Parts: sequence; structure tokens; C-alpha cells
Amino acid sequence: MSELILPKIGLGTWMLKKSAAKYSTIEGIKLGYRHVDTAQGYGNEQYVGEGLQEIFDNGIVKRDEVSVATKLHPLKLRPKSVLKSTDVSLKKLKLDFIDILYVHFPAFLLGYSHKKTLGAISKLIDEGRVRQIGVSNFTPNMIDEALEVCDKPIFVNQIEHHPYLQQKRLLEHHSKKGIQVVSYSPLARGHALKDTAIQEIAKRNEVSAAQVCLAWVISKGAFPIPKATSLNHLKDNFGAIDIQLPIEDLHKIDEISIIRRFVHPPVVAPKEWKE
Ligand SMILES: NC(=O)c1ccc[n+]([C@@H]2O[C@H](COP(=O)([O-])OP(=O)(O)OC[C@H]3O[C@@H](n4cnc5c(N)ncnc54)[C@H](OP(=O)(O)O)[C@@H]3O)[C@@H](O)[C@H]2O)c1
Repeated sequence: MSELILPKIGLGTWMLKKSAAKYSTIEGIKLGYRHVDTAQGYGNEQYVGEGLQEIFDNGIVKRDEVSVATKLHPLKLRPKSVLKSTDVSLKKLKLDFIDILYVHFPAFLLGYSHKKTLGAISKLIDEGRVRQIGVSNFTPNMIDEALEVCDKPIFVNQIEHHPYLQQKRLLEHHSKKGIQVVSYSPLARGHALKDTAIQEIAKRNEVSAAQVCLAWVISKGAFPIPKATSLNHLKDNFGAIDIQLPIEDLHKIDEISIIRRFVHPPVVAPKEWKE
């Protein structure tokens, strides 16, 4: 099988329920998206799976042209649960293998262990049921600790990353370690679209505010996965692939002083986020 290469923009599916998840998966792939991101916790793997099946059955793309990522639920991080719940995910997604299996949150209080949890994912890779190990919401320190005990490379860390949470230190650290960054909530869950600096840059460059956010994320070498429900939003976001903002505009976004995290669930979020 060919090397797994992340496309510049992927498709997020959090909050997409039932037919909406199926619709976005089908229409997104028809538009050119080649990376779909779901999670056991989103309750929509089955509907993403129905969308994928329809796409493959109709010959729109082949299985190996789309990378599908899912995430282990924070209550399924003990080795036995990793193996069992991945089987359930594979069935729901109607796939023989998952391209990236993420640890959704480093939920140490609920049974996450670098050695045991990542060891179980490594076993799934040996069995051909998973292609790459992903982690999500890991701090640079956690990445370093995980790398020490994991027998396989960590392919990616999926983190919140947008103009209001620029993650400069983490990006620098990951670039040194050769760990890719998938940027979740790249539109700051819609909040960054109302930002006056972003709106002004969008207007002057004749692009949308969403495209400004996504082009900025891509300029940092990261891979945004915006979620969109309507065809217009799906199209708008995918259009960011071809947009290169002038360097002065990228710098203006770098200088935005607002710092705001939008995803911070209790118990499972790293305690360092509070510091
Ligand atoms: N690993 C994790 O812990 C984690 C956490 C959060 C998210 N994620 C992943 O990252 C994905 C994206 O993050 P997110 O869903 O939190 O937020 P997001 O992608 O930053 O923002 C989604 C919001 O922006 C709107 N939107 C999308 N495209 C738009 C456009 N072109 N113009 C105007 N509004 C637009 C959407 O509305 P419509 O739906 O109406 O289009 C929705 O309200 C998730 O779906 C999920 O796959 C992962």
C-alpha cells in the first residue's frame, strides 16, 4: 500500500448526525476531499460509513484514495477496549482498515497509558487493521513521553489550532520531532469568521473569512479539517487549497492577540491547559 499522505484540507464531522454525516461525506468526497475525520464519540461512524460505501460502490473514488480517521473514545483506552472498540468502528465504517486511529484525549484518569494504549494500536497496525497511530490533544511533553515507549512512529497530533489559538510552541516542537499537526476547529468553531482583521483581509483578497483562516493554518504547515454541513460551506472551505495570502496578511493574523480555546472537556483534557 502506498505511503499515507495527508491532503491539505480534510473533512471534520463532529456534530454531524445521521443523514447530515452521510451527506457531507458523500458531497465532500465528490468535491475533492480525500480525508474524513470522525470519532467513536461523535456517534456518526455508521453514517460516515454509509456515505463512504455509497462513494466506493459508485466508483467515485477507490478506498485507497481516501484516508479515514477515527478516534478511540476516552473510555476505550485500555488495551482490550482498544481492540474491541476498533472492531466496532471498522464494522460501523464498513471498512477493512482505518488509516489513522487516534487516542482522542490523553485520559490518564480513565485508563490511558502511553505504553499500553499505544501498544494496542501498534498491534492493530501489525494485524493490518490500522495504518498509522494518531494522538489528539497531546502536549509536547506527552508526545516526548509517548515517543520513548512507543515501538512505532506517531504519525500525527490532532490539536485545536486557529487564529485565536496559534500553538506556536507546539508547532515548533512537532516540526523538530517530525510529527504532523492536524488542526481541529480551524475556524474557531465559527468565531474567527467574525474577527474584524480576518474580515478585512478576506474582503481585500476577495475570498471568504473561512478561506482566510484555512489558508493561514495551511501556511503553518498544518492540515485543517473544517466541519461543514451545507454544500456552500463544503465548497468554500475546499477552495482554500488554492489560496495563498500575501505575507503581510499572514503576519497580521500572527499578531492577533486574542487567545481562546473552544474545546476543553472536563476530566479528559490535559491539566496543563489550565496553567
Ligand atoms: N480531536 C478533537 O478533540 C476534536 C475536537 C473538536 C473538533 N475536532 C474535529 O475537527 C473538526 C472541525 O472542528 P469543529 O467542527 O469544532 O469547528 P470548525 O470546523 O472550526 O467550525 C465549524 C463551524 O463553522 C461553520 N462553517 C464551516 N464552514 C464555513 C464557511 N465556509 N463559512 C461560514 N461558516 C462555516 C460550520 O457551520 P455548518 O455546519 O453550518 O456548515 C460550523 O458551525 C470537527 O468536526 C472534528 O472532526 C476534533
